[in-house]
Amino acid sequence: MFNVVIKKYGDPENLIYEESESQILDDNSVRIKVESAGVNFADLLIIKGRYQERPRPPFSPGLEISGIILEIGLKVSSLKVGDRVMSIMKYGGYKTEVIVPEDNTYLIPKKMDIIEAGGFPVIYGTAFSAIITKAKLIKNETCIILGATGGVGMAAIEIAKAYGALVVACGGNDEKLKVCVEKGADYTINYNDKIIRKELKSFGINEVDVVIDMVGGQSSLDLVKTLKWNGRIIIVGFTSGDIPAIPVNRLLLKNAKAEGLYWGELAYREPKEIGHDFSVLESLFNNKKLNPSVNKVFQLKDAAKALNLLADRKNIGKIVLRC
Ligand SMILES: NC(=O)c1ccc[n+]([C@@H]2O[C@H](COP(=O)([O-])OP(=O)(O)OC[C@H]3O[C@@H](n4cnc5c(N)ncnc54)[C@H](OP(=O)(O)O)[C@@H]3O)[C@@H](O)[C@H]2O)c1
Repeated sequence: MFNVVIKKYGDPENLIYEESESQILDDNSVRIKVESAGVNFADLLIIKGRYQERPRPPFSPGLEISGIILEIGLKVSSLKVGDRVMSIMKYGGYKTEVIVPEDNTYLIPKKMDIIEAGGFPVIYGTAFSAIITKAKLIKNETCIILGATGGVGMAAIEIAKAYGALVVACGGNDEKLKVCVEKGADYTINYNDKIIRKELKSFGINEVDVVIDMVGGQSSLDLVKTLKWNGRIIIVGFTSGDIPAIPVNRLLLKNAKAEGLYWGELAYREPKEIGHDFSVLESLFNNKKLNPSVNKVFQLKDAAKALNLLADRKNIGKIVLRC
């Protein structure tokens, strides 16, 4: 098998593509021939040693894969050899073959392309947990997505629209914001050249029910001020590099809540809950409410190029590695 390994924390250029021995399968896991591995913002952080998880090098990055089951452990009961599956892992997906616990491996929706499926679990799973499980978004509420131009953000637009919300997409790039409109956003705001609260007012929106925040920083602080009575802000990431200190009096005044989401950990602690989420997502997908299209496909050996594209913010939506 082949894998992409980081031997010393650092930039994507430090990744090495090499051959290695297959690992031994344990009783509760499955061996998968990987077809596609999703590329995520967190992969950039983990190879630099700047993520919540700090595995000791050498290790392979990669939070999600899709593929075909080659072998099952003695105690595996819900999956069989030949199944088309997608798996979630804390790291280690940039490989041609992986071993993953049965609990964290899910059947790919029948009509979903196997390459697209490698980029599905993290962005759609995270967006669903943020919008539905945590924020409990309901029809006709207003949902503003900070970082709507990224992978999680675009998935969030589709899910919020599927649940009947009015969606405002915020990002820093006009070309990407046009794609947000194609995904269903009702309004867009470029936070690099517009003041979000002022723009919202120009759309006739004075307050919002739900904020999904992938960016952090000043935009996030400004949006706390726009929360409605019983509003919810869900903290998903800090791509701006600036962790906002939310003034809690603002929450008190609006009877509002700020809640964090650590989906990768949640997926390991509550795999059945995530399985339920995936079944809801599957029915949305079957009803054509979701379009998990992949923007760019790279070969596994070109993982550094894929991560650099992500780091340079040149991607529009999801990138996967063909393994
Ligand atoms: N909490 C969790 O469980 C969880 C799960 C998945 C992802 N995340 C986090 O969510 C965030 C978004 O993930 P993603 O997969 O959607 O990433 P992505 O596809 O790379 O998108 C990044 C988004 O952040 C925006 N951004 C603003 N400032 C940025 C900066 N300085 N550098 C890069 N991007 C910047 C980008 O918008 P413009 O380029 O338009 O400005 C874009 O909308 C990341 O922080 C990731 O770690 C958290």
